[in-house]
Amino acid sequence: MRAYAKPHSQMAVRAVRSVVLGVALAFGSAAAPATAQDSPSAYPGAGPVEGGLPRSGRFRLYKGRSAPRPPQSPTELLDETVGYPAYPKVNYKSGAASEKVIRQGEYLVKAGDCISCHTNKTRHEAGPAFAGGLKMKTPFGDIYSPNITPDKETGIGKYQKWQFRNALRNGIRVDGSYLYPVMPFVHYNLLVNSEVDAIFAYLKSIEPVSNEPPANTLEIPFNERELLAGWRLLYFDNQKNGYRRDPKRSAVWNRGRFLVNGPGHCGMCHSPMNEAGAEEKKHYLSGDFINGYWAPDITSRGLAHVSVADIVSVFARERGLWNGQIQGDMREAVHDSLRFLTAEDQKAIATYLKTVKSEPTPPAPISSEKLPLRAGAKIYTSVCSDCHSFGGLGAPQIGDRKAWLRLVDQGRDRLYAVAVHGSGDMPFKGMCQVCTPAQIRSAVDYMIDVSLNAPDQGKLARRSNFHSKFPEHDTLLEVRK
Ligand code: HEC
Ligand code: HEC
Ligand code: HEC
Repeated sequence: MRAYAKPHSQMAVRAVRSVVLGVALAFGSAAAPATAQDSPSAYPGAGPVEGGLPRSGRFRLYKGRSAPRPPQSPTELLDETVGYPAYPKVNYKSGAASEKVIRQGEYLVKAGDCISCHTNKTRHEAGPAFAGGLKMKTPFGDIYSPNITPDKETGIGKYQKWQFRNALRNGIRVDGSYLYPVMPFVHYNLLVNSEVDAIFAYLKSIEPVSNEPPANTLEIPFNERELLAGWRLLYFDNQKNGYRRDPKRSAVWNRGRFLVNGPGHCGMCHSPMNEAGAEEKKHYLSGDFINGYWAPDITSRGLAHVSVADIVSVFARERGLWNGQIQGDMREAVHDSLRFLTAEDQKAIATYLKTVKSEPTPPAPISSEKLPLRAGAKIYTSVCSDCHSFGGLGAPQIGDRKAWLRLVDQGRDRLYAVAVHGSGDMPFKGMCQVCTPAQIRSAVDYMIDVSLNAPDQGKLARRSNFHSKFPEHDTLLEVRK
């Protein structure tokens, strides 16, 4: 097991971008969104990069650290629980509601992963749970998550039930202004009032923590919450009565869909976002980069070679699908949220995901030049085998047919893109700065070919002494010829 890698923040960028769109809508100006397009280059992995991925001009903003992920020290690698907040003690006799209702709220709070955004944390430690103050950095200033403990002065202690419902389901604050959609009210809108009330009762039954998060430092006009009205009009499909069942489908499937689209807010990371920072319905759950990691395609296509049981073991046993590990924000989602779901709910999610159909988003082509597999073999040997021959750092091993079958389901273009741009511990271009995108692409082709079609060669390629067997493959200089 490896340490949880703390990502840098991108999600706030989106919320702010939505304001920009609001401006555009309100004043019919096409110029406003263009301003925002200049900025994401400050965010590694977020902005337009060589090869065209992530798609230029798009923003992804999520809770997280303000700084790019620092290098891992060996001690951090040993302690894998750094920075995780712990759920606080609950007083089930608080009187906020019956114990049964408070427990229902607790379950929903876990399913909704409120703790991950509403707790301030660093790479090394977490502040008091739900006390807010997590900084979400944007090029236009910072947004801080609010304190949602029952503290009367700095938290939600003075909230009335209806005010809490308004915030959670409708994205409206106590003073009537709009919340930025970085708070997933678009998803929590699928909860019904009784569920929201249960969440409220739970939050009222934990210890109040006095903590006033710093004020947002957004610049004009991004600080204008009224401008979110335009965004809401376009992208917030307010369901007055929460989740609408599909009567033609089973109860299990409906439960799964509710959990995915509602509390789980999976689409916030797994669906690509449009120019305005709203999820692209057409490409629902077809994958996107988030905080430097590729959040994979989790539709029936991306999960074609994965069973329901395999998906469940991602949530229940923290077992990754292609390399046995889970990294990035998903590790946090599992640790703080998904592992607490009942086995039935985990299975319901998996059952639903296996039926999801949507169009993939093809990444911009990495290179039109196609090199022969032989060239790929050379790159593989000299660069990629350092990790992929034995699964170092959690790299999918060459020759592991099952893992590569699943990876290919993500789309070859996607794999090229990940190899060129990097994802988590997969360094961009495998750390080969001199390699061209076409060479990286051919290395991926080679790894796929060996893994799927030539297991014998795969065994050979997996051997750590491969280098010495093929010394002629070894020098980068030769690779460049
Ligand atoms: C992805 C991050 C994220 C998650 C997950 C999240 N929140 Fe929030 N929440 C925020 C941010 C950021 C704000 C403030 C947004 C703003 O200032 O417009 C907020 C605002 C709120 C508010 C309004 C507070 C106020 O100032 O009026 C409440 C209440 C709230 N969240 C409760 C919850 C609950 C309960 C959950 C879980 C069911 C949850 N949040 C999950 C990020 C998140
Ligand atoms: C905060 C962002 C985020 C949220 C929310 C999120 N995911 Fe993920 N997910 C990721 C990332 C990033 C990865 C890739 C992890 C990796 O590279 O190991 C991932 C990976 C996965 C995987 C593959 C596991 C593997 O082997 O890497 C599955 C299955 C999955 N997510 C399902 C879900 C479901 C279902 C939900 C909602 C209940 C969800 N995710 C919510 C970011 C997220
Ligand atoms: C320093 C170690 C390291 C090197 C060198 C390396 N990789 Fe990786 N690679 C990884 C890790 C770790 C992962 C798993 C990343 C994840 O799960 O997010 C990975 C994943 C991949 C994937 C699967 C993408 C996915 O979505 O998980 C491909 C394709 C890939 N690498 C290609 C390459 C190629 C081609 C090279 C050589 C040019 C290379 N790698 C060199 C560590 C490495």
